[in-house]
Amino acid sequence: MQTPMNERNQLKALAGPMLAAVNEEMKVVLAADIFPPKSHLYGMMQVHMGWLDESFAPCESNPGKQIRPLLVLLVCQAAGGDWRQAVPAAAAVELLHNFSLIHDDIEDRSPTRRGRRTLWEIWGVPLAINAGDAMFALAHIALQRLSRRGVAADIVLRAAERFDETCLQLTEGQHADMQFEGRASVPVDEYLAMITGKTSVLLSLCADLGSRIAGRDSSVVNDYAQFGLNLGLAFQVQDDILGIWGDEAAIGKSATSDLETRKKTLPVLFGLEKSEALRRLFAGEPAGQEFIREAIAALEACGAREQAAETAAAYTARALAAFESAAPAGPAAAALLELTNFLLARHH
Ligand code: IPE
Ligand code: IPE
Ligand code: MG
Ligand code: MG
Repeated sequence: MQTPMNERNQLKALAGPMLAAVNEEMKVVLAADIFPPKSHLYGMMQVHMGWLDESFAPCESNPGKQIRPLLVLLVCQAAGGDWRQAVPAAAAVELLHNFSLIHDDIEDRSPTRRGRRTLWEIWGVPLAINAGDAMFALAHIALQRLSRRGVAADIVLRAAERFDETCLQLTEGQHADMQFEGRASVPVDEYLAMITGKTSVLLSLCADLGSRIAGRDSSVVNDYAQFGLNLGLAFQVQDDILGIWGDEAAIGKSATSDLETRKKTLPVLFGLEKSEALRRLFAGEPAGQEFIREAIAALEACGAREQAAETAAAYTARALAAFESAAPAGPAAAALLELTNFLLARHH
């Protein structure tokens, strides 16, 4: 879908005030207006967010792309709602995402995220698990704050139910992802179910909540949810590609650990189907840099990278079809198209 010239750069214009409002809301929920932090636990959560450094001194560090809250608010506006009413939902999904990252970095033994040391790397696994739990609870508290913005009680109730259903699906996806590490091979359909859980359902929830809070009926909410779901699938496949071919400085996390841990990402699954060289490498013992270099060469030689990129593009096309069916309007609709294209072309 083409974006008319006069509709370009809507994303930048709208994202500024929207993300400022979301960050303000998250800071209230995480008690970041209190300094020094009200407890060590709150300090840890604020370090994860990039608001405090490791010695709890204020800092401004990479907050992440914040695409999930942006999706909530842009969809709310494109669906005819007042985005300010949806700010608590946007804060809630970003806190939920951050909870999942704190636990994911423990599960994946990842020492860095967003260019910073991860909580478990700094304070150890037990305290990091607990900080993740606290952020999970705070995400729920954030969502309940929808009532303060005049969102009708039945919408808040259903939003809370959708939120918990999504949390559950997310843990299903994470469970499968971890189990796959120990398996020699994974069929592509099982992989797709796994990424649907670990990533896509949360992006789907964002679009669902935005349109739900805008007061739209279930058929429109469903179109937006499909848009988010397919966008999430494209996003995760692109993340898999960046997890092998990304620039570590740009992505803020390791670009070799997926291969080191034999993660069954989509390029690897395509590669295992097509390349005897890759199958041999994956059947052998781990062998550091040499293994990484050879695995990347085998993936490239058999066209696995292109095949993954084509898959991401196909999901983006499906996302755009659902988006059109939802009939979004105004500058937020143009901004959502920009966001969709950015996610497919991103390098971080
Ligand atoms: C990372 O998500 C985890 C995935 C689901 C791929 P993001 O790439 O959105 O992470 P941040 O929030 O921008 O750091
Ligand atoms: C993270 O998935 C998804 C969730 C936290 C639910 P990954 O483990 O694949 O993502 P990165 O590479 O750590 O960001
Ligand atoms: Mg991880
Ligand atoms: Mg993981």
